[in-house]
Amino acid sequence: MLTLAIIKPDALEARNAGKILAHLEQEGFVVRAARLLKLTTAQAEAFYEVHRARPFYRSLVTFMTSGPVLALALERDDAVAHLRDVIGATDPAEAKPGTIRQRYGRSKEQNAIHASDSPDTAAREVAFFFAGGELRDLSPPR
Ligand code: CMP
Repeated sequence: MLTLAIIKPDALEARNAGKILAHLEQEGFVVRAARLLKLTTAQAEAFYEVHRARPFYRSLVTFMTSGPVLALALERDDAVAHLRDVIGATDPAEAKPGTIRQRYGRSKEQNAIHASDSPDTAAREVAFFFAGGELRDLSPPR
């Protein structure tokens, strides 16, 4: 099963991308595709369309376009639920010890990493960044 993660601009700026990727691999996720890109405003707006009415939407779009992001298509058994466990709560101050957001997040907005919240969302979000032919087949998780 696939899910989408985005290592956010705050984590790249802090040079934490390698540590986050190591954490994900340690948890059994296999990288099927990766892209380092700077989102346009239109792309960030479309990606977070579901949050358009929320008070934090404009600020979120500004943050997500403030620097490059690293989009990752990740594979693992029960990938969606497991990745959400591994990243922790939205607010790093509330995330469990040892989770990625607790370790590397700065604030509720600048929280280091995004993960898809359901299998349907994962399919849509993986397709947002990657064409089917861009998914590489590595050996299965060990
Ligand atoms: P993410 O998992 O990418 O999904 C939506 C994002 O909006 C979230 O992580 C945070 O970066 C941001 N977000 C959610 N709630 C708030 C909030 N109350 N204030 C600011 N940003 C938020």
